[in-house]
Amino acid sequence: MMLKVDGLRKIFDGRVVLDGVSFEFDAGERLGIVGRSGCGKSTLVKLIARLIDADGGSITFDGEDITRLTGVRLRAVYRKMQMIFQNPEEAFNPRRTLGWSVGEPLRRWSMPNVEARVEELLKAVGLPVELAKRYPHEVSGGQCQRAAIARALALEPKLLICDEATSALDVKVQAQVTGLLRRLSVERGIALLFITHNLAILPTLVERVMVMHDGRVVETGAVEDVIKRPQSEWTRELLAAEIFSTEAN
Ligand SMILES: Nc1ncnc2c1ncn2[C@@H]1O[C@H](COP(=O)(O)OP(=O)(O)O)[C@@H](O)[C@H]1O
Ligand SMILES: [Mg+2]
Repeated sequence: MMLKVDGLRKIFDGRVVLDGVSFEFDAGERLGIVGRSGCGKSTLVKLIARLIDADGGSITFDGEDITRLTGVRLRAVYRKMQMIFQNPEEAFNPRRTLGWSVGEPLRRWSMPNVEARVEELLKAVGLPVELAKRYPHEVSGGQCQRAAIARALALEPKLLICDEATSALDVKVQAQVTGLLRRLSVERGIALLFITHNLAILPTLVERVMVMHDGRVVETGAVEDVIKRPQSEWTRELLAAEIFSTEAN
């Protein structure tokens, strides 16, 4: 098992924000996590990535209990698990070129041939190598997100966690980036955890989906089944909200 989350619990200011979340998935699998804003998706992701500490439950990643890991051993986990966030421009140092930033994990881990690797990584995400010389504010949101994906791939992670990674992009670019993520996951055997409030983009990207509401998992299943035959009222509510927003656009 690549990742096993068991009874995860998080309390913020006396309020239970995650209440016994459990799920697991295998190497190379792609899982979507959906739920309306505030249901606890980002908190779950931050716990898995060990950016914040859990108040209960456990996280096993790649055969190791990482729930309370610290120091050098946690650093080794960070290398195998990479994250992509909503606003790519904020993820980069504005004073550094994109090429510098994409190569940063390689330099940090004293890897050889950084320049050639950066070129390879840019090509892998469909960016022209000239883009290495540009600064984050000099490229489009989609290009910047591709660069963030390139950087995340640098250390050949086993798991890529995307938290609303395409939510700030327009619909066409969103489809291009999800297409890229799927291809990279398939070709490189990288497991993908894709968090979104938008169920509609999941069928082309993931096989399985987990629906959250109010800090709990309310439904899990094959993505097609969940969309066609939602079992939970919260899933139906999410689907209805999407039809409405599509009509409004
Ligand atoms: N650092 C924090 N301190 C206090 N409350 C927080 C903190 N982070 C998140 N929350 C609260 O936890 C709940 C879940 O937030 P979040 O995980 O960001 O939801 P989602 O990503 O699904 O929109 C929200 O009610 C949010 O206000
Ligand atoms: Mg969030």
